[in-house]
Amino acid sequence: MNTTDVETRTIPSPFGGGHEQVVFCSDEASGLRAVVAIASTGLGPGLGGTRFYPYADEGAALTDVLALSKAMAYKASLAGLDLGGGKAVIIGDPRRDKSEALLRAYGRFVQSLNGRYYTACDVGTYPEDMDVIARECDFVTGRTVEHGGAGDSSVLTAYGVFQGMRASAEFVWGSPSLAGRVVGVAGVGKVGRHLVGHLVEDGAEVVVTDVSAEAVESVLQTYEGVRAVSDTATLVRQHLDVYAPCALGGALDDDTVAALGAAIVCGGANNQLAHPGTELLLEQRGIVYAPDYCVNAGGLIQVADELEGFSFERAKARATRIQQTTFDVLTRAKGEGVAPSVAADQIAEQRIAEVSRLRSTWLPPR
Ligand SMILES: NC(=O)c1ccc[n+]([C@@H]2O[C@H](COP(=O)([O-])OP(=O)(O)OC[C@H]3O[C@@H](n4cnc5c(N)ncnc54)[C@H](O)[C@@H]3O)[C@@H](O)[C@H]2O)c1
Repeated sequence: MNTTDVETRTIPSPFGGGHEQVVFCSDEASGLRAVVAIASTGLGPGLGGTRFYPYADEGAALTDVLALSKAMAYKASLAGLDLGGGKAVIIGDPRRDKSEALLRAYGRFVQSLNGRYYTACDVGTYPEDMDVIARECDFVTGRTVEHGGAGDSSVLTAYGVFQGMRASAEFVWGSPSLAGRVVGVAGVGKVGRHLVGHLVEDGAEVVVTDVSAEAVESVLQTYEGVRAVSDTATLVRQHLDVYAPCALGGALDDDTVAALGAAIVCGGANNQLAHPGTELLLEQRGIVYAPDYCVNAGGLIQVADELEGFSFERAKARATRIQQTTFDVLTRAKGEGVAPSVAADQIAEQRIAEVSRLRSTWLPPR
């Protein structure tokens, strides 16, 4: 995840809008100030990363963690996982404020929730940090490979996005193949560059852009035939069949949607719709939008698999199902006459409502 990606999307809760539990944590000795939010444990314990970010104040941190934890509940539900939605934020600059003492103090707070919340990496936190947190806490995923973790989650995130793109291609053109299609990838960081690999392998014509010249250069060196353009505004004005936003949130703003000639938008970035209503602009322009949290669930699937003792093949098999899920979302959207993002929310809510073990307050077995 990137460091400026502060999501603010509001998602209605199937349980009436409230979060089950919000915990404010502070430890004076280490300087820790954190908020853990559990949106719902209807399907199981809340799992979501810990974002370490220099929020302007506690209010901004709270707004972010409430939205992020709710989004995790939807992502886990749609991915068919037995997990609820949780997320945490640590207020501070990770480069300046992160210390062993602070991470361990945070780990003790997560432990105090007794398994109702599992943490993982997010903006500003890394597998090595999870190893430190795990010295105080049993409920940690996203750990290093040396400690039984799954390593870099962007591998399966990109794989899942590719599956979502195949489903979108089948929905629009009747075949899942991207061979011969022009695909524009904005942002070739961890997720974007792996996605380029899948596309090149499938025979797509790939155009990329990134604010980092180094990231672009690395992709051009690795994959033959890929071309680069100067910026995202130029990319979206190219002849594209598919546009894949893989950088920051809010990629689909009004100007971008107006300029876009692609038939499909399917990318790894979180919270692509810049504001409520953007999904309708996409509809009006006849662009099929594969919902972000539907297609980018591969990373969550990967860290969730750690809870069973990580198996890459099992996690990959589950991420492969993103193709069917995306196709189901697009089919339902068409059938119901709603935007795909609305259809995705409906399916996620329906599963939470139907499968919930308890309507609230999941507890670990005694
Ligand atoms: N890593 C995962 O497993 C994962 C999982 C789910 C969702 N996501 C989402 O996918 C997106 C990418 O994540 P990542 O892990 O690859 O992050 P990353 O930081 O490795 O890559 C992001 C890339 O986007 C580039 N970028 C930033 N601003 C840009 C702009 N204006 N135009 C073009 N390029 C720009 C950066 O230079 C960087 O190369 C994020 O929105 C993240 O939230 C990631």
